[in-house]
Formats: sequence, C-alpha cells, structure tokens
Amino acid sequence: MMSDERVLFVDHTGQIGGAELILLDVVQGRKRSSAFLFEQGPLSQALADKELGLIISKWGQGLSQFRRDSSWLTAIPLVGRLAAIIVEIARAARAHDIVYANSQKAFVLAALAGLLVKRPLIWHLHDIITPEHFGAVQRWVQITLANARATKVIVPSQAAAEAFIEAGGRRNLVEIVPNGLALPLEPRSAREIRAALDLPAGPLVGVFSRLAPWKGQHVLLEALATLPGVGCIIVGDALFGEQAYAAELKQLVLERGLADRVRFLGHRSDVPKLMKAVDVMVHPSIDPEPFGRTLVEAMLAGVPVIATNAGAAPDILEGGRAGALVPPNDHQALASAIASVLARPQALASQLEYASHRAHAQYGVAQMLDAIGGVIRRLQAGAAA
Ligand code: UDP
Ligand code: GLC
Repeated sequence: MMSDERVLFVDHTGQIGGAELILLDVVQGRKRSSAFLFEQGPLSQALADKELGLIISKWGQGLSQFRRDSSWLTAIPLVGRLAAIIVEIARAARAHDIVYANSQKAFVLAALAGLLVKRPLIWHLHDIITPEHFGAVQRWVQITLANARATKVIVPSQAAAEAFIEAGGRRNLVEIVPNGLALPLEPRSAREIRAALDLPAGPLVGVFSRLAPWKGQHVLLEALATLPGVGCIIVGDALFGEQAYAAELKQLVLERGLADRVRFLGHRSDVPKLMKAVDVMVHPSIDPEPFGRTLVEAMLAGVPVIATNAGAAPDILEGGRAGALVPPNDHQALASAIASVLARPQALASQLEYASHRAHAQYGVAQMLDAIGGVIRRLQAGAAA
C-alpha cells in the first residue's frame, strides 16, 4: 500500500503491547510519515524495519513504567520532562500534516503540543475510559482534551465507544474501527508444538496476555487449584511496570501447590502459533477489555475461548455463540467453564467453525487498514480544503 499523507504517529512506550502491534500494521507503507516514541525499546527496533522515519524523545525513557494509577503527587517531578516532550512533539508535527496519537499518554501530550503547532489530531484510543481503568482526574483530563483538541477518536469496539461517550466524550468524534488480525501459518501440530516446548500431553489451558492485575491471571490460577490434573501455560510478561504482580502470580502458584502444572513462558513473539498447543484459551480480564486481540487470535487458530463477560468480549464472541462467557473475577464459574470444555471438546466443533468464520469476516487486517486509511485521508482532505 502506498500512502501519501505525512502522519506523525506518537506512542509513549517502547514496549510492544496490543496497541503497538496495531500501530505496526497501520504504519505499513507510509514512507512520508514518522513515528515519535517517548523511549527506545522493542517497538523502536520493530519500527526501524519499516519505511517511515523514527524520532525518539530525549526525555521520555522509562515513562511507560509509570503506572496509570500512580498518584499525581508522584507525577510532579515529571512535569519538566513532560513539557520537554510536548515541545519535541510540536517540533516534529511541523513537518507533518496530521498527528496520530496511539496511546492515552501520547494523546494528552500531543493535544498540548497542538497548542504550539496546530494539526488535525487523531486519537487511536485503545483504552476503555471507565472508573475501573482510570481515576476521576485522568478521565476528566482525557475527555476535556479530546473534546477540545481531537479531530477524530478511533476506538476498537462499541464498548470502548460507549465508555468514551459515557465519560463525557463527544459522540461525533468517535469512529469505531475493529482491530484486524491475521494468523501466521503454523504447519506444526499441537502435539509437535507441545513437544518442542517440553509440555505435558494432558489437558492444557493457556492464557496469553501481558501480566497485569486487571488481566486476571490470578483468577485462572485460583480456578486451576480446583481442577486437578489440568496443566496451564501463562504466556506474557509485565510490560508496563507490573513486576510486583508477576511476582505475586509466581507466589500464588507455590501457595496453591500448582508448580508442577503451571508453566510461565514469559513474553513470546509467536503467540498465535503457541495457541494451537492448548485445549482452551482463557481470557480472564477482571475489568472491561477495550478489545482483546488474543480473543480473535484464538478464534482464528481454531481454539475454544473462555472469556469474561465485560467490555468488548461479549461482542467479539457474539454473546457466547463464538466462545464461552463467564462473569469477571469468579474463579468457580471459570473452573466449571474450563471443565466443561475439556470434558466434551467434540461438542464444540460447530462453535469453533463459527468463531473462525466470524473472525475472518469481521476482524481482518485489510478492513482495519482501509477504515483507518479512510479517516486519515478525510482529515488530510479537510485540512487541505
Ligand atoms: N502477546 C505477545 N506475546 C506475549 C503475550 C501477548 O505477542 O507473550 C500479544 C498477543 O498475541 C496479542 C497482544 O500481545 O496480539 C495483546 O493484545 P491484547 O489486545 O490481547 O491485549 P493488550 O495487552 O493490548 O491489552
Ligand atoms: C489495548 C487494549 C486491548 C486492545 C489493544 C489493541 O492494549 O488493552 O484490549 O486489543 O489495545 O487495540
């Protein structure tokens, strides 16, 4: 794809979470664009292989480890660095037609940079602005800036759109663009993948999300404690400062006597392939999930899904038709859903077929890129008019 617009993509992190995997698809073929990152990391390395320019802030290293729920008092010493980043973004924006913020922190600073250098501003909002995820002050800042400075707010789901509007965001800013995913080819069978990872042959559950309290891996561990003989792989690492939670999970495994059944595989770059090795993929988020790429990855991989009934999951799983839904933070309900999938896997054949069809039809990469490209083109045309 060739795209002419000069877009400045801004992201606060050098890590690669789901939002950054989307960014890596969106920047494809955009030779006249640049990415501005607050810090170096795996994302800057991945972007270096793309055709667009790359700008790294002099002031932002480590800011992505600053947790959303950290108090504003802790933030005060950061103010000088944030101001310096705002100036850097404004300077970079001068050589571009459109600014595209790919994260909440990036949006806030890009919106303020817009006071210095005015450009149409897209916020690709990968978060769900609810009280579970953000404090009242953060919600107020985000919504006030969005209403005042965003030209468009792209969200990945109806749930994220509703939360934005409910928090006071202007409805006419919102454009829903579902995330698009593609499944890499994996010729190996489940048995071969398990052998390569030295995993046991029995019933195996997997969770494939970064380690964070709201992603709910602890609920799965509690469920496993009541499911003798069921093994589990926990794939993913703490990406945004949640190392304490990672340590708690390992402690919980010991306390519940699960050490011989649970394997932590850390962050992997081959998740959709690894999924094929498990009998069921669990998505145990205790707070509403803005989208949840791993849901669609499992649907594409032909693996049964059990997800919590909050945020975008009920929509992606079509109310339970394309996978099972359980109440959030309820390890007993999760354990019985896992037991029922493991007991009668053949009963799920038509659900798996439907899920795969739905994932291909609704959540393709080309559809997502067309829709986002359309938003960018319209803004460019508007700016030129
Ligand atoms: N992922 C990965 N390696 C891991 C764990 C997860 O590459 O070890 C990927 C996963 O396959 C998915 C993305 O990270 O594509 C996470 O996106 P999701 O929307 O599920 O959640 P997020 O972490 O963005 O909140
Ligand atoms: C965020 C959300 C996740 C979403 C991803 C891509 O990281 O937590 O639900 O799938 O962005 O939009």
